[in-house]
Amino acid sequence: MGAAPAPGRFVVFEGGESVGKSTQAAWLATRRGACLTFEPGDTRLGRELRRLLLDERAGGLSAVTEALLMAADRAQHVAETIRPALEAGRDVVCDRYIGSSLAYQGYGRGLRLDVVRELSEIAAVGLWPDLMILLDMDPLQARARDDARDDARDGARDGAREDARSDRFEALDEAFHRRVRDGYLELAAADPGRWAVIDADRPAPVVRDDIAAVVADRLGWK
Ligand code: TYD
Repeated sequence: MGAAPAPGRFVVFEGGESVGKSTQAAWLATRRGACLTFEPGDTRLGRELRRLLLDERAGGLSAVTEALLMAADRAQHVAETIRPALEAGRDVVCDRYIGSSLAYQGYGRGLRLDVVRELSEIAAVGLWPDLMILLDMDPLQARARDDARDDARDGARDGAREDARSDRFEALDEAFHRRVRDGYLELAAADPGRWAVIDADRPAPVVRDDIAAVVADRLGWK
């Protein structure tokens, strides 16, 4: 029997709404030949949880329920997708992970950060990313960009992910988005070895160049 492959590296994109995470995550995964995944909703169970989470958000899920469902999605995602890929020697690029729970359920919804962290660690069985890339942007700027994109598309969103996203976005107010943004910046400042902050309020190719530089510097990805 051959030796087990060296485990892959685990990179996560974090940030508020419409900062371009999905586009950049897809770009990096393709460039690196990594497994591309996202939260919430990238397993069979996760798709059900995502529907509950995003449909019900406007209708009054409690903050604790929301945190528990996010954790359940994460537990399944780690067990089914992320850990097997890493153990098989594949790199993994994920669109949102523990940082989202800390920023949204902790700073945004006001749950205790240590409780949210503990829940996520239970769900992830201690699996933290090697690198979390925070795409940082003022939430009003991000929203303006999103509206401009919608106009350009004449509202023609397709796919379950996009539909749910726009509903949920309408339901959250500006103060919430500010707490999320400030929370992310605080998390990154407290743990600069694991986080990299990139100004996302610039053209996508410029942001991409910064991402390439960060993964080269931190992980040796050329
Ligand atoms: P999504 O459509 O994936 O949004 P985006 O394109 O902005 O990533 O919706 C996911 C939503 O779920 C988003 O508003 C952030 C939220 N979320 C949490 O509140 N906590 C979490 O732990 C995760 C993973 C996501």
